[in-house]
Amino acid sequence: MRTIILEQPGAVENLKLTDTPKPSPKSGEVLVQVKAISVNPVDAKTRAGKAMYEQLAKDKPVILGWDIAGEVTAVGENVDKFKTGDAVFGMVNFPGHGKAYAEYVAAPADDLAHKPENVSFQQAAATTLAALTAWQVLTQQARLQSGERVLIHAASGGVGHFAVQIAKHIGAYVIGTASEANADFLKELGVDEHIDYKKVKFEEAVKDIDVVLDTIGGDNTTRSFDTVKQGGRLITIAGSIDEEKEKLAKEKDIKAERYMVHSSSKDMEQLATLMQSGEIRPYIYKEYALEDMQQAHQQIETGKTKGKIVVIP
Ligand SMILES: NC(=O)c1ccc[n+]([C@@H]2O[C@H](COP(=O)([O-])OP(=O)(O)OC[C@H]3O[C@@H](n4cnc5c(N)ncnc54)[C@H](OP(=O)(O)O)[C@@H]3O)[C@@H](O)[C@H]2O)c1
Repeated sequence: MRTIILEQPGAVENLKLTDTPKPSPKSGEVLVQVKAISVNPVDAKTRAGKAMYEQLAKDKPVILGWDIAGEVTAVGENVDKFKTGDAVFGMVNFPGHGKAYAEYVAAPADDLAHKPENVSFQQAAATTLAALTAWQVLTQQARLQSGERVLIHAASGGVGHFAVQIAKHIGAYVIGTASEANADFLKELGVDEHIDYKKVKFEEAVKDIDVVLDTIGGDNTTRSFDTVKQGGRLITIAGSIDEEKEKLAKEKDIKAERYMVHSSSKDMEQLATLMQSGEIRPYIYKEYALEDMQQAHQQIETGKTKGKIVVIP
């Protein structure tokens, strides 16, 4: 089967289109013929030798990617939930070796959900790692409630554009940061207030926030403390909560945590329901062919992607 392997960590040129043997599903797994893949910043970080690289390198060849949508072509033992011909989607084996950049992926049934019929394979593939992150942070880690005020950084990005839609579904008041170029996009997504982070210091523009979703890290996390009200929550997915930030959190009586997404078919099913009803919709900025994976990586590395990018094997 056609597969993109990572020959060695480094530049995009190390992503090589090659032939590898089709995997067979083990117990608890299904074999998925992949119709669409989505690409995330963690793919590019891992390609560069950071993020998940060390872990993936224990099992060569390294095949990047976690987000897939496709059709089940074989079912391993101990799988009741899916049968051959089912259309499925999910984030495979995260954190672990997802091996999604290929025509076929052996995926744990526990990581997948049925794809709604009214959603394309491209839309389904786009609504996996980024959407799961937004879902798990807002509903499980921060326990965002109706009527609360949430500040979503990079509201136009992969995670952010799902977070806005999920927060609106919950009934929160949503404030999103993005540049002026994405002001109309944020309005269409349903944000109540847009802050152009290039022109305005967000910590001077908003106060009394119940929940911050920090997708930027570093100084952005520190500055976000000033927006949160006493007893509020700050969850970062890009930075860390070091000693200094822990001290700040204690002083201000804020719950500050770093969060890492994990595969979950239960959460995927919740996303499938929200997609089916039209309450969440991915924005697909661009599609690439499998052989153009290097370009897809160049795009995700700009840090300027609007919504999601998708690759078709
Ligand atoms: N811990 C986890 O489980 C987890 C899960 C998913 C993602 N992540 C991490 O979270 C980060 C975001 O992921 P993503 O997929 O959402 O990225 P992304 O799609 O590449 O984000 C791109 C967006 O960020 C906006 N942006 C860039 N700099 C900004 C700033 N300083 N303030 C506000 N917006 C800014 C851009 O809008 P403009 O063009 O308008 O600037 C663009 O639309 C990445 O570092 C990723 O690795 C972590």
